[in-house]
Amino acid sequence: MRLVILGPPGAGKGTQADFIIDKYKVPHISTGDIFRENIKNGTDLGKKAKSYMDKGLLVPDQVVIDIVKDRLTWDDTKKGFLLDGFPRTVAQAVALDAFLDSQNKKLDSVININVDTGILVERAVGRRVCKSCGATYHVKNKAPKEEGKCDKCGGPLFQRDDDTEDTVKTRIQVYFDQTSPLIDYYKAQNLLLDVDGKGDMKETFKRIEKSLDAKDA
Ligand code: AP5
Ligand code: MG
Repeated sequence: MRLVILGPPGAGKGTQADFIIDKYKVPHISTGDIFRENIKNGTDLGKKAKSYMDKGLLVPDQVVIDIVKDRLTWDDTKKGFLLDGFPRTVAQAVALDAFLDSQNKKLDSVININVDTGILVERAVGRRVCKSCGATYHVKNKAPKEEGKCDKCGGPLFQRDDDTEDTVKTRIQVYFDQTSPLIDYYKAQNLLLDVDGKGDMKETFKRIEKSLDAKDA
C-alpha cells in the first residue's frame, strides 16, 4: 500500500502514522524526522534544514525531492510506504508522481487529517518527544506516566525547537499558503480520503481504517 498522510502541523500525522504502520506493515517515511536525524548528527543537510525549520519555513523543494527519491529506492519500500510531511508543495507532488510513474507505480490513497486550526497550536506546543526512541507525548492529551520520562524506554523527553507558539503559527500559515493546494491536487486524482482528526487518537485511527477499507472494497 502506497500512502501519503496530509494535514497541518500538529494535526496528528505522526501519531496516526504509528497506528497505520503497525497495521499495514509499511515503512513510515517522515521528511521532518529525516531532517531532525541529520540535525542531531550534525550533517551538512541537517545544518541547511535547520536554518529553515527553526523559522517555520519549508526546506527548498529540490533538497527534499532528492532525499525522498533516494529513500523510495530502499528495499523496504517494495511492499509500500507511508509518506508523512511529503509532499508539501505542488512541485513536490508533481515530482513524486513523475518518480512513481517512472517505476510503473502509483499512490493508493492520500489521507487528509482535518482538525480545527484553533487546536493545532495547543497540540504542537504541548508535544514532547523522547530523545532516545522518538515516541511522541503531549503534556495534557498523552502525558507520560512519569513527567519528562518516556514510558517505552525511559529516555528524556524534550520539546522540538520549532514547537514554540510563534513558530507553530508561522508553520500553520505556511501550510495554508503552500501545502493546502495539495487537497485539490489529490481530489482531482480521486485519491483523497478526508478524515476527521478531532477527539480521541484511536477513534481517528478507526476512521482512517474505515476509509482505507472502503476504498479497497
Ligand atoms: P514535520 O516534522 O513534518 O512537522 P509538521 O508537518 O509541522 O507536523 P508535526 O510533526 O508538527 O505534527 P503532526 O501532524 O505529526 O502531529 P503529531 O502526531 O506529532 O516538519 C517539520 C519541518 O521540517 C517543517 O516545518 C519544514 O521546515 C521541514 N520539512 C519537513 N518536510 C518538508 C517538506 N516535504 N518540504 C519542505 N520542508 C519540509 O501530534 C501533535 C501533538 O498532538 C502530539 O503531542 C500528540 O500527542 C497530540 N495529538 C495527536 N493526535 C491527537 C488527538 N487526536 N487528540 C489530542 N492530542 C493529539
Ligand atoms: Mg509529525
